Amino acid sequence: KTTVESLPLGSDPNVDGKLKAEKVHILFGSHTGNSESLAKDLHARAKDMGIDAVISDMASFKTRELKGIKKLAVIVSTHGLGEPPVQAEDFYNYLHSKKAPNLAHVQFSVLALGDSSYLDFCQTGKDFEAVLEKLGAQKIVPRQDCDVDYADEAETWQKKFLTAIIQTNGQNIALQVQDLPNNQVNGPQYSRKNLFEATILEKINLNGKGSSKETIHLELDLEGSGIKYEPGDALGVYGANSPKLVQSVLESINSSGKEEVETHEGNKTLYDALVYNYELTPLSKTTLSGYAELTGDEGLKKILGDKIALQEYLSGRDFLDLINEVPYKLSSKELISVLRKNTARMYSIASAQEVVEDEVHLLVSVVRYNAFGRNKDGHCSSTLADRLEIGDKVKIFVDKNTRFKLPKNPEAPIIMVGPGTGVAPFRAFMQQREVLERKGPSWLFFGDRNFTTDFLYQTEWQQYMKEGVLTKADVAFSRDQEEKYYVQHRMLENGKELFEWLEKGAHFYVCGDAQKMAKDVDIALKQIIQQQGGITIEKAEEYVKNLQIANRYQADIY
Ligand code: 2AM
Repeated sequence: KTTVESLPLGSDPNVDGKLKAEKVHILFGSHTGNSESLAKDLHARAKDMGIDAVISDMASFKTRELKGIKKLAVIVSTHGLGEPPVQAEDFYNYLHSKKAPNLAHVQFSVLALGDSSYLDFCQTGKDFEAVLEKLGAQKIVPRQDCDVDYADEAETWQKKFLTAIIQTNGQNIALQVQDLPNNQVNGPQYSRKNLFEATILEKINLNGKGSSKETIHLELDLEGSGIKYEPGDALGVYGANSPKLVQSVLESINSSGKEEVETHEGNKTLYDALVYNYELTPLSKTTLSGYAELTGDEGLKKILGDKIALQEYLSGRDFLDLINEVPYKLSSKELISVLRKNTARMYSIASAQEVVEDEVHLLVSVVRYNAFGRNKDGHCSSTLADRLEIGDKVKIFVDKNTRFKLPKNPEAPIIMVGPGTGVAPFRAFMQQREVLERKGPSWLFFGDRNFTTDFLYQTEWQQYMKEGVLTKADVAFSRDQEEKYYVQHRMLENGKELFEWLEKGAHFYVCGDAQKMAKDVDIALKQIIQQQGGITIEKAEEYVKNLQIANRYQADIY
């Protein structure tokens, strides 16, 4: 239980037991629900300490309330490519607009969630901080940026924030914020902080011979873990570096790898640390800037100062390329200090526990490419594809996604757009609906490169159609003909019916590539609504916005 200890003598909690701290407003903008759960956690902690606190998502927050806010916590994640999550969009735009009010009366801090393998790491959090300051608000504690493994940093920030809230009131209180109680009590609690080691039960390359792609269907054993997940959730999986790459790095720095080094996970040999605890590929901006600092290399510094040059430099390179191009006598300590710690990769879960019980299924696209004179592969996908066999174990945790869920009403129609590995959660949706007595109609749009080699889970979809679990399926194979043919083209061809489904209350889901596909699908959706509804594009955008607000338009994109 959270407690405030050692209240100084003479301090005077309010009559109702509340500390004399000003009311704290907690605003969150969540993409998959992580910011939301951290916001709720902060809210619970504040309340436990007797601080008056209110919490709201940015979408339903009334901006006129800003006038009365004195203490503000902003918890926000960054969406795919440096953009705010849908839930935060309006508030974000409002603060950046001419209508934005003066906020000199506000003291705030930002907790920013993101993924440091993207160039615009935590950009939305940074933007919120900058705009709040521009509007006159003052930072009460520094912004905290969190990577995919956010738990520790988020915890530290929460403590600092709550401490500052009380101290700004002139109450010099030593805070002892302890962990919130776990709601489950029995057995070991597996989580992102206490990883479960799951055994690989099955591993199949779903692409046929001659395919340009390699997509692995993976089945993992959860028996004995007590782990529960729901369709729409993701699984965090830890990979390891290839021994060959590690050897090359060690050779490059003239090390045997046998010396002991101190890591965030205890002391180990440098070799083991490089295999299991740090990332060598892809090269990240943080690693590049750390290395540029160390070496003082002017060329690297210049690249770091130019976004386009940086993007180009990072593309296709790994850490070995960097140390070969800009040689420097790295000590093992320095080496470790510039590397990103091994971070989980998130995969949308492709199964439902109602059907697979103690298993969890994933669909993993294997990354392989040749760049700068070497064959390279993805950190986690190639661990799963090449370095682990059936019977081996992988470290995992479930990442809840409260914003990608089947409709509460099992009879509501659903439209699912999932090309490539984007189809994974829809297999989970179908499994979930398969066991239901009564279920609404469902429509799948799937796409990939070639029909003969890349129709992922083809027989399963056919079976679901036969059983009436899946009502309709439309497929687009992009490379079976001259012209590119994609899922959004299939949607547009079926515009009339798609609009009818929406009008009947269908929920619309899109999963997969964020850079192009999800944007094109969004445009197609708006076009369909505009044409079929006979309305202006502005009205169509409003229609889509309302779908989002009603949780009837959900995206799981990466
Ligand atoms: P492509 O590789 O031939 O361009 C799964 O990866 C499928 O998604 C592939 O068929 C891929 O086609 C396709 N895809 C690529 N970009 C897309 C986009 N903008 N919209 C829809 N599908 C896309």
